[in-house]
Amino acid sequence: MNRSWRTRYGFYFIAVGSAFGLGNLWRFPYVVGENGGGAFVLLYIFLALTLGLPLLIGELILGRLTRQSVVMATRKVSQTSGRDFKFLSALPVILSLVVLSYYSVISGWVLHFITQFGLSLFDSTEIGSGSMVLLLKNGGLQFGLASVHLLITLVVVVKGIQNGLEKWIGWTMPFFAFLVVILIWKSTSLSTTDDVLRFLFYPDFSKLTLFSLNHAVGHVLFTLSVGFGTMVTFGSYIREDQHVPTAGLRVALFDSLVSLGALFIVFPLVFKASNRTITDPALMFDVLPQFFIEMKGGLLFGLAFFVCLYLAALNASMGLLETVVSNMLDMSKKMSRNQAAWATGGLALLLTLLPSLSGSFFRDARLGEKGLIELIDSILINGFLPLVALGLSYIFFKGVSLKEKERVFVDKDKFVSYSMFPQWIFAIRWFAPGVIILGWLLHLFGLLKIIWSE
Ligand code: PHE
Repeated sequence: MNRSWRTRYGFYFIAVGSAFGLGNLWRFPYVVGENGGGAFVLLYIFLALTLGLPLLIGELILGRLTRQSVVMATRKVSQTSGRDFKFLSALPVILSLVVLSYYSVISGWVLHFITQFGLSLFDSTEIGSGSMVLLLKNGGLQFGLASVHLLITLVVVVKGIQNGLEKWIGWTMPFFAFLVVILIWKSTSLSTTDDVLRFLFYPDFSKLTLFSLNHAVGHVLFTLSVGFGTMVTFGSYIREDQHVPTAGLRVALFDSLVSLGALFIVFPLVFKASNRTITDPALMFDVLPQFFIEMKGGLLFGLAFFVCLYLAALNASMGLLETVVSNMLDMSKKMSRNQAAWATGGLALLLTLLPSLSGSFFRDARLGEKGLIELIDSILINGFLPLVALGLSYIFFKGVSLKEKERVFVDKDKFVSYSMFPQWIFAIRWFAPGVIILGWLLHLFGLLKIIWSE
């Protein structure tokens, strides 16, 4: 099969499409809230460029050189380098499956607001400000919505129409960007903006906690889709003459810009509504619908916004599901594509039960302030993801020779690639493992401190 795209834009559509998702608009603001604002934002930007980007480039190159998705790519480099990485390569696939199930619940929340805004256009029943609170308490509804989302994702992947759909969604994204710009403009014209700017950009390092470094690492990896093997697959689509580091840089810059934009949308609204807990995963869904309701023409705007957000979430979910399915097919020759997809969907659906019932059946399963859904989020994104990403970068680092790395990284016409090559190698070899392990240890230490003090 010829995996390379005929146009270079094809790659950008899918890579940006996978990176851009709920992580940017929904997760980033509340993680920033949880970690005290400005200093964390700075840490995030720094790590996006020094840790996320080098690992992203590594994954893309692994795919580009082997033209395979992660499991087969690993097998290939195991053969050429004479090392056995089999165990490490299964981890991103398992992680993708579990993250898909939890991502589906949040995508279900988006579906909920699509129906709410859609219905409100036809009858005058208001979307109550407590809509999110009610949804969180209704485990059945959340499970139902998550199932609908999984089903949509499955049908797209089973029918093999995701390539077409990904491109189509790509074309809708400029419209989404337009909506986001309008929202930033509207939100920042609220009187709270000065406080917000101080909160977001004044780096008060005393607000960072023992958990902050790990939170920043986890979020950088999650939002750039690094550590899931997804970018290995997408790297395998990159054309021979396309410069991978430049492509990676563009994806990372675009993704970070959108994330910063999300802060400008959410925080002015949060500051306007006093007594909001800014550390809650429901943050965006708490404040945005209310803003739309109060805005002139806001119902239609709200509907358009949530439809676009849903398409972004769907795109990201397709990437996750496809990663699991394509690797299952690579591993077992007997399985058909349909079987692999339905098996993955079934498993994901089962796992979805836990996060979707977090606010109802499992309401008492809490650790301090955190409910089950936050615990799952933290265990997956802050706990497993950094380690799995580290494993994947180890495969790349040890499995691909320095010469090969240099061949793909260095473009004779681009001076930057020449001068950056040693830095990139340093980042993968020393900096990323160092920061990831330090973040993990500090986090562990923080947890022990809490347990001791109780
Ligand atoms: N990067 C996506 C987001 O920010 C999440 C994702 C992770 C998607 C891994 C695909 C693979 O929402």
